Amino acid sequence: MTSDWWADAAVYQIYPRSFADSGDDGLGDLRGVTSRVPYLSSLGIDAVWLSPFYPSALADGGYDVDDYRDVDPRLGTLDDFDEMVAALHSAGIRVIVDLVPNHTSDRHAWFTEALAAPKDSPARDRYVFRDGTGPDGAGPPSDWQSIFGGSAWAQAPDGQWYLHMFAPEQPDLNWDNPEVRADFLTTLRFWADRGVDGFRIDVAHGLTKDLTEPFTPTAELPDLADADGTHPLWDRDEVHDIYAEWRRVFDEYDPPRMAVAEACVAPSRRHRYVGVDGLHQAFNFDLLEAAWDAEEFRARIDRQVADTESAGASATWVLSNHDVVRHATRYGLPGAEDNPRETAAAWLLSDGTEPPLDRDLGLRRARAATLLTLALPGSVYLYQGEELGLHEVGDLPTELIHDPEFRRSGGTRKGRDGCRVPIPWTSNGPSFGFSRGTPHLPQPEWFADYSVAAEEADPHSTLEIYRRALALRSKLRGRGFAWHDETRPQVLHFVRPEGWDCITNFGSQPVPLPEGTILFASAPIDAHLLPPNTTVWFLSGETPT
Ligand code: NOJ
Repeated sequence: MTSDWWADAAVYQIYPRSFADSGDDGLGDLRGVTSRVPYLSSLGIDAVWLSPFYPSALADGGYDVDDYRDVDPRLGTLDDFDEMVAALHSAGIRVIVDLVPNHTSDRHAWFTEALAAPKDSPARDRYVFRDGTGPDGAGPPSDWQSIFGGSAWAQAPDGQWYLHMFAPEQPDLNWDNPEVRADFLTTLRFWADRGVDGFRIDVAHGLTKDLTEPFTPTAELPDLADADGTHPLWDRDEVHDIYAEWRRVFDEYDPPRMAVAEACVAPSRRHRYVGVDGLHQAFNFDLLEAAWDAEEFRARIDRQVADTESAGASATWVLSNHDVVRHATRYGLPGAEDNPRETAAAWLLSDGTEPPLDRDLGLRRARAATLLTLALPGSVYLYQGEELGLHEVGDLPTELIHDPEFRRSGGTRKGRDGCRVPIPWTSNGPSFGFSRGTPHLPQPEWFADYSVAAEEADPHSTLEIYRRALALRSKLRGRGFAWHDETRPQVLHFVRPEGWDCITNFGSQPVPLPEGTILFASAPIDAHLLPPNTTVWFLSGETPT
């Protein structure tokens, strides 16, 4: 086991409340995860990343944390956590936990204390409290908007306002406060001592802020894409002092613990989060936002490979996670070749009707995109259910929507519940084997065809493609990467060490393959022709006769 295991790992994201329920409350839990270790092992992943499992009122799917050093009683206990880690470790699977340092929940003991404390008290200084504007302070301190919509300020009962860049139930912490800094070091050690191998850092670009007044009005805030480290709210240069301190904690352990940043920053600034004095990796969401288009994929791959090489880091590849429309769906909507994000948002708002989704096309492209990313140098982050080829659930009734984004945007954004519907393990039975109770989000009938049981019975299923591809990928050594000369605009062809080639046909016509031995493909291949929307891995050279 090398200490930089994460550099080319296949990491599988578990959204615990929707993965497997060992009980009957319809909410996935830690024992559920433990019960599925054989499945995770058969998938061939190197690590799991667990989205938050901490006590939470679920105002934002668990990213509103009441207590950073405990398990939500509905999800289990610390003993269950230890058992889960032990079971994963004995299967050779490492564990990354999600840390949410930008904000606590409004039920956190500190926030309760802050609300009960007077203005200018030490308890309020752990958060960002300010007086309001206007004659009686009835207006928010600035016009800043929260990410989920609406004002970024909410009023406390005594009339002061507190900052929340996400939901009002997620008050932002004040990272200038030494007690806040010290407490997170305690939290890091708490989980590292329990054997976790790494941390995923939520909103890593948001912790430090320049809150000197007067506040810059929204219209004068720089665009994040042009940020230079001085934006008052995001991606400030001094945030790296925090990660330097954290790195010293990670390096106290043997093997050192790792961390991956969720840093939504300009690609040119992403590498700042990574280094010997910082975190180990930063998510790259470039492909997740890319249209189904060879040129766009190539440009984004080039940028990530160049950026990570110059920073001495390793690349990360992500196509789906708990915040975006699943990639099988994105690629199956007309508009996927152009503006997939907006098309998917409109499709969700129409309850999954407009524009009509071509499920087969989306899945075919999703398999091709996955094989492409699995062939790239660096690590891949996979999201639960993508190995089943799951589509987004587009028609969740609005009264069942949990995501705060839906209501705070005044219903103009449907939110992220459609990718968080519980996993179908069996083709029938209550909640398709997820729980003995009613799942916290309803599963559609079509989930039956995408269940683990159904796909295990089909050698050509998406699940079997993932298993075989991950097994093959683990044999690929080295970080080498080079584009092969290619004149066909809809074809991407790159070469990895030892003559291992990956070719993707983004176009609508089959294209001839060069000489070589096919190792694996995302769809059947006849007569050495690569069909549309297909990726092939092969060893270049003479085709054996
Ligand atoms: C990013 C997480 O991925 C998302 O789910 C959450 O809503 C925000 N951070 C706020 O914590």
